[in-house]
Amino acid sequence: MSGLTLSGLTVDRGGRPVVRGVSMEIPAGEVTALLGPNGAGKSSLVLAVGGVLRPRAGSVVVDGVNHAGRRPERIRRAGIAVVPEGRRLLPELTVEDNIAVATYALSRPAARAGRAWALELFPELGRRLSAKARTLSGGEQQMVVIAQALVARPRFLLLDELSLGLAPVVVNRLVPVIRQVADEGIGVLLIEQFATVALGLAQRASIMEGGVLRYSGTADDLRASPELLQSAYLLGGARAAAAPPPPGQSHIHN
Ligand SMILES: Nc1ncnc2c1ncn2[C@@H]1O[C@H](COP(=O)(O)OP(=O)(O)O)[C@@H](O)[C@H]1O
Ligand SMILES: [Mg+2]
Repeated sequence: MSGLTLSGLTVDRGGRPVVRGVSMEIPAGEVTALLGPNGAGKSSLVLAVGGVLRPRAGSVVVDGVNHAGRRPERIRRAGIAVVPEGRRLLPELTVEDNIAVATYALSRPAARAGRAWALELFPELGRRLSAKARTLSGGEQQMVVIAQALVARPRFLLLDELSLGLAPVVVNRLVPVIRQVADEGIGVLLIEQFATVALGLAQRASIMEGGVLRYSGTADDLRASPELLQSAYLLGGARAAAAPPPPGQSHIHN
């Protein structure tokens, strides 16, 4: 199965380029980690792929079709699901309705199947269907956000800041779900501030800094070169590689 290919993607924000000629491949059925300090341009890259920001140059290609510059609905229909950083739920709606909202563009059978799959991935949500979103824990909210992206059964899932603000025990709950999603053939791009979490899940990894990719290669090679990781994070002053991994993290291997 083919991947999602980004070529020469350039994105301007506030009148200056914050993503500069980024090229990368997000293969089907694998997790690709995108690491880098705050301000590197990771979120801008993902927003441009999802059609929220319009890239100034470059292409976003699936099956030979360039989707760059298209509107978010079109890009979703092409099978690219984006979970932006800090995505919020509709707080007064129930879990059931927040999931239903995400199926509006689907046929009834597709919506039913997508909902069933999401609840299979997150059985705990099945027990919270009538709870209002505002009453959920941070971890439960992140599960609903991911479920919303998955109900359409996308071919690619771009996930910005999986673990932001979540307790380690919750992150450990999400990790196997991301792996399962990739095992089902979905190409995942994972932006994750804890390098240990990201590299535990990923087959491939890139480090972004100052709008460009400084490293692209296997996650194994990157795990074996802590200097590279460290330098990328220290340059941006982010808490990251040096932060303690969640308990049990050392058990996670490909
Ligand atoms: N809404 C915005 N307007 C102008 N500049 C922005 C905006 N959001 C982010 N930026 C700038 O774009 C650059 C990349 O930011 P971002 O994509 O959020 O990086 P990351 O996700 O890697 O932390 C930063 O210099 C940031 O200040
Ligand atoms: Mg970001």
